[in-house]
Amino acid sequence: MSAKILDGKAVSQRIKTELKAEVEKLKQTGIKPALAVVIVGDDPASKIYVRNKKLACEFCGIKSLEFALPAETTQKELLALIERLNNDNTISGILCQLPLPEGLDEEAVINAISPAKDVDAFHPSNVGKIMIGNFDFLPCTPAGVMELIAESGIDVSGKKCVVVGRSNIVGKPMSMLLLHKNGTVTICHSRTKDLAKECREADILVAAVGVPELIRGDCVKEGAVVIDVGMNRLENKKLVGDVAFSEAAEKAAAITPVPGGVGPMTIAMLMKNTVKAAVLNST
Ligand code: GUN
Repeated sequence: MSAKILDGKAVSQRIKTELKAEVEKLKQTGIKPALAVVIVGDDPASKIYVRNKKLACEFCGIKSLEFALPAETTQKELLALIERLNNDNTISGILCQLPLPEGLDEEAVINAISPAKDVDAFHPSNVGKIMIGNFDFLPCTPAGVMELIAESGIDVSGKKCVVVGRSNIVGKPMSMLLLHKNGTVTICHSRTKDLAKECREADILVAAVGVPELIRGDCVKEGAVVIDVGMNRLENKKLVGDVAFSEAAEKAAAITPVPGGVGPMTIAMLMKNTVKAAVLNST
């Protein structure tokens, strides 16, 4: 089988172009979407992510404000900044880039961001709303994956979905979104007894574990849709996903590449959430 490549770069470009038109219209009504991005310390990967978010904002006509704080920033200083951004009516959305440097409490920071400006959808109040299925914001990576699955042409309803990874950012919310679309969902993790066997059952397989090329060809059912959320930098600097791409592509009906699959979709969904926040916070 030769797999269809799910081109996240192209799909994200289409979404951002639609958002750009929407932002132009909103500005005529006095609504000006603005995203505040907080980055603490100088993790090189985080810096690249933040730069890409800024570029996407520029493309969409969304104002972006970057708050780059030194690694020595205290919890109190960081929370004071979040509080200031919460109270600033010109800011629609707030994102604090994770991971934070050691010594800073990520959970406290997530809890401090106003749920109405929480464009990552990490705040417990937004997480709870997702569980119920009545939400304002969807977490960006899982939402981007759902768009790509839709792009594959496969209807999730009744399909066996296997999510590898149980993080709060991807695995858990991903499972919930697939469930909302009536998938039969299995979550696999480091204690799963026979990972390959579980994966081979999947009509839709989502890998989000951060282990380079963990999912080999023998984990993929013939005709499956394979979504690779992983972004792993090898010692030789090569960027690979959690899926061994060429092996999996021989079996899959559709597969996402790394890079150019889920990554750009995450950013497009962040733009979507920021525009939504601007609209919701204006009323
Ligand atoms: N670090 C890695 N992914 C993300 C994300 O989606 N949001 C934030 N805030 N930090 C991240």
